[in-house]
Amino acid sequence: MKKNLFVDEITRRIEDKPILINSIFVVGEKKRLTTKQGDSYLHLTLLDKTGSIKAKIWDDSKIPFDSVPDDGVVSVSGRAETFNNTIQIIIETIQPVETRYINPSDFVPSSEKDPEKLLRELQKILKPAFSSVFKAILESFFNNKTFIEAFKRAPGAVKIHHAYIGGLLEHTLGVVKLCSLLCSLYPFLDRPTLLTGALFHDIGKIREYRYDWKLDYTDEGRLIGHSVLGVQIIDELVPPSSPLPSDTIMILKHMILSHHGEIETGAVQLPMTREAMALHLADNLDAKMASLNQIYEEFSQEERWTPYQNFYSRRFFLASPETEKAEEDGAIRLKPLIRGQKTLGELLQRIERPDE
Ligand SMILES: [Fe+2]
Ligand SMILES: [Fe+2]
Repeated sequence: MKKNLFVDEITRRIEDKPILINSIFVVGEKKRLTTKQGDSYLHLTLLDKTGSIKAKIWDDSKIPFDSVPDDGVVSVSGRAETFNNTIQIIIETIQPVETRYINPSDFVPSSEKDPEKLLRELQKILKPAFSSVFKAILESFFNNKTFIEAFKRAPGAVKIHHAYIGGLLEHTLGVVKLCSLLCSLYPFLDRPTLLTGALFHDIGKIREYRYDWKLDYTDEGRLIGHSVLGVQIIDELVPPSSPLPSDTIMILKHMILSHHGEIETGAVQLPMTREAMALHLADNLDAKMASLNQIYEEFSQEERWTPYQNFYSRRFFLASPETEKAEEDGAIRLKPLIRGQKTLGELLQRIERPDE
């Protein structure tokens, strides 16, 4: 079933006049609420890959509220209008749609990057780990089609950072690159250990999330969490024919269990090796940069401050520094930041000498 109207198009097209809606959406939320006059109505949140929109069903006699599914995909007709500065759809008809008839990529956002290219880049940086004691476990991972397919598709999160198909691979590559850089800056770090830990730090996310036509947690994701799921995956990957030294496996598992840094932020253990601490900081940096980049992309250039960001307990300042003025200093200069810059690597490339 082809989806012909997306949330972002509704938001773009709507001005003063309502527009007619006839499209399919995922049901994100369903709540029975009451108006000031005491009449009950149904409040829904409808989603697709471009965003979410509120929707209402006023009349229980026309559409029995209990007939509306709590989850799944629905075909909706009605009109979109603006009420109190919020766009909402007033639903006239709503029917469940079997998910085998839809195109999942209409409903979940995807990375624009080519996963095969990212995988090749990842394997290239991991070369020092391939020629170490971790060779067997790395080969066991990269030769396992099921793991690799899941690793290419899984999101990095459901919200906050890399919350799209392919986000886990993008984030993992970001962390592996940072860790490689840290090994050059701090030669006492063990490169094969840190790179292998970076590759596997979030591997449990392939089971923590579902990523078919909706991004959400799985039951084992909620109950067990990706750090412990990651340790289980390591046990599955170690080939029984070529066991790794027990300390090596223990140190790798410790990096996975401690990568969130603090117990309050989801770590099972505090980082207790130099590599585990470096991994935690690299992971945090890549996740924060991606989430801030998303916030900066979301708000228009005319504004000076973002709205209050609950996750960070602050607003962010949006105006770019006027760094071009420093050009005559003749020293290294930093070009103004451009919205949409994705990685630290890209940012580092923008540092250049003016006469080159
Ligand atoms: Fe994590
Ligand atoms: Fe991570």
